[in-house]
Amino acid sequence: MRIDVLTIFPKMFDAVLGESIIKRAKEKKVVEINIIDLRLFSKDKHRKVDDKPFGGGPGMLMNAEPFFEAVNYIRKKTKDLRLKTRTLLLGPKGRRFDQALALKLSRYEHVVLLCGHYEGIDERVAKHLADEEISIGDFVLTGGELPAMVIIDGVVRLLPGALGDENSCKDESFSEDLLECPHYTRPADYNGMKVPDVLLSGDHEKIEEWRKKEAVRITKKKRPDLLK
Ligand SMILES: C[S@@+](CC[C@H](N)C(=O)[O-])C[C@H]1O[C@@H](n2cnc3c(N)ncnc32)[C@H](O)[C@@H]1O
Repeated sequence: MRIDVLTIFPKMFDAVLGESIIKRAKEKKVVEINIIDLRLFSKDKHRKVDDKPFGGGPGMLMNAEPFFEAVNYIRKKTKDLRLKTRTLLLGPKGRRFDQALALKLSRYEHVVLLCGHYEGIDERVAKHLADEEISIGDFVLTGGELPAMVIIDGVVRLLPGALGDENSCKDESFSEDLLECPHYTRPADYNGMKVPDVLLSGDHEKIEEWRKKEAVRITKKKRPDLLK
């Protein structure tokens, strides 16, 4: 998969993309991630990418032009690769990001993420450039950079070859409309807090049965909305 991110704060991505699973996925060529400075596509002599909103109102809005210029540049660059591309605008008004959407996005060969800042972006980007607007929750953040990192993390770990063990993401929370069952590790008895006997029994059938029951119990308790 190839991911292109358009942002006015490219350095924000260094730490997150340079560690752990994403770092390894890049090294293994499971994913190629390009963080692109949107200011390079500004035609303003001072590389300005924002302006006052028409009709008045507080703050500044990001101009549409640098986004269109940058996406057209990316499209031209990737044309010969004939990639299956999804262009996503990050914004609180968008469709809520969840595990099902992460899975859907992981099936694209190319994802372009557009990060807004200030009061947001000229509406023509949402209307005529992005395929979809994505929100990471019902709250307003300062910019689209953290949401972009959340989406990259959620999607990249689902790509074949990204995780050390392919099975790691199979029984996870939300993969079957259930939360994951509890897990324990050594010691079996920590200051009187004991691990359930069944997990020490060695009986794999019983352990599987217990895990399924616990997943349902926890989902009923914490997220009954998931049980259809
Ligand atoms: C301060 S916000 C703009 C909020 C906008 N004025 C509104 O009320 O809908 C600036 C940028 O942060 C990003 N952003 C903020 N909250 C977000 C969220 N919950 N999900 C995704 N992106 C978000 C978007 O890219 C947005 O353009």
